[in-house]
Amino acid sequence: MSENGAVMSLIDLERDRHVEELGQLLRIRSISALSEHREDVRACAQWLRDHMFSIGLQKAEVRDTSGHPIVYGEWAHPEPGRPTVLVYGHYDVQPVDPVELWHSPPFEPHVRDGRLYARGSADDKGQLFMHLKAVEAHLKARGELPVRVKFLLEGEEETGSEHLDAFIEEHKELLACDVAVISDTSWFAQGVPSITYGLRGMAYLQLDVYGPSSDLHSGSFGGSIMNPAEAVARLIAGLKDNRGHILVPGFYDRVLPLSERERVEFRQLPFDEQEHMRSLSVPEGYGEEGYTTLERVWARPTLEVNGIWGGFSGEGSKTVLPAEAHAKISCRLVPDQDPDEVYGFIESYVRRISPPGVRVEVRRMHGGRPALVPLDHPAMDAASRAVERGFGKAPVFIRAGGSIPVVASFAELLGVPTVLMGVGLPDENAHAPNEWLLLENYHGGIRSAAALLEELGRALPA
Ligand code: BES
Ligand code: MN
Ligand code: MN
Repeated sequence: MSENGAVMSLIDLERDRHVEELGQLLRIRSISALSEHREDVRACAQWLRDHMFSIGLQKAEVRDTSGHPIVYGEWAHPEPGRPTVLVYGHYDVQPVDPVELWHSPPFEPHVRDGRLYARGSADDKGQLFMHLKAVEAHLKARGELPVRVKFLLEGEEETGSEHLDAFIEEHKELLACDVAVISDTSWFAQGVPSITYGLRGMAYLQLDVYGPSSDLHSGSFGGSIMNPAEAVARLIAGLKDNRGHILVPGFYDRVLPLSERERVEFRQLPFDEQEHMRSLSVPEGYGEEGYTTLERVWARPTLEVNGIWGGFSGEGSKTVLPAEAHAKISCRLVPDQDPDEVYGFIESYVRRISPPGVRVEVRRMHGGRPALVPLDHPAMDAASRAVERGFGKAPVFIRAGGSIPVVASFAELLGVPTVLMGVGLPDENAHAPNEWLLLENYHGGIRSAAALLEELGRALPA
């Protein structure tokens, strides 16, 4: 049996333990958005640090930031000439509301139909844990790793990674590597192993509209001054035309057009538009004219309203003219759009189209850059072979509509590409009730992660 055969066999033997230990990690309520869970987030970081030591990493530490802590770990003694691989993951999770819709409690992992149900099972605790288990298996079976490995585990990805770029910038030496690896994405579909090479960026903002200093009687004052709720509606309506085209001047300036080759490749993927819309319970799709659903989600920017509020929405009727109204709006950006530039375009345009008689403010929330990973980088071939060895099937290359802003930061600050080899599934309920991870993908993901270390050790010059 080859040395690698020993690693794979060990992984297959230890499946039950791999699930049991992930269960412990999933019990920790590390919700980064809620201040009442601050100590849980820290406890999760400490659990991961302890776990890193227990699998044989020589260095593992919890590093404080002015937000939630970062966990750093390292195994630094491969044969000379081997490359360095930086594994990133996030141990924070989304809130669990509405909790009454969960079929089992979000922080009590349950296995049903081969799926592990718990908040964070797919996004991202289960996926980051695959890499720890892969490293452990190498060290157990062979006593060493084929590459130098560094782990960077973050506790505030779900709230916009506010302190991560500063940490990377301050620790360029510590984080220096030849390639980064992240498992925090999804397959195209169950049974279709996938490597993601494109992610969208983000520009999140809040629109605040202020009118009179107090709510007013709508009979005595309505019709004589601008209503802030109406102003919000007018502003939102002015941002897009009815063909799904965003009207903000400059917005599309830096959008890289889809290549004909990509359009052809997207069309070759097994995607049934009608079936997809049925699964979402909508009668038909809607979006920017001239693009397919996959193109709209993967390679075109968006502007979406996340919520609108203001005025009266309680039981019955109340005749009132609200003093203020608000909206949360997020733009998904594509290469080469820049969040700060896009914010600027939106601010100018909103100022221009603001109705008279109200004060309008645009508040920048969090931004993130989009990313494209070069398909011709040798790490991508290595990753493709690793996924094939883990799952017995070669992967397809896809893009994703979601955002992992650190991918652009790794490219800019560390000068490295990121291999995105997640094993989630499109219907895994990430961010929603009843999140699950397919255990088959978890185990195959551990095998792929183990194979990847070998493949990268061979493919990359140090
Ligand atoms: N794992 C997701 C990103 C993701 C989602 C990648 C779907 C590929 C497909 C990540 O945890 C996430 O939710 N990111 C946020 C980023 C935001 C807070 C800046 C997102 O995409 O909304
Ligand atoms: Mn994630
Ligand atoms: Mn997420």
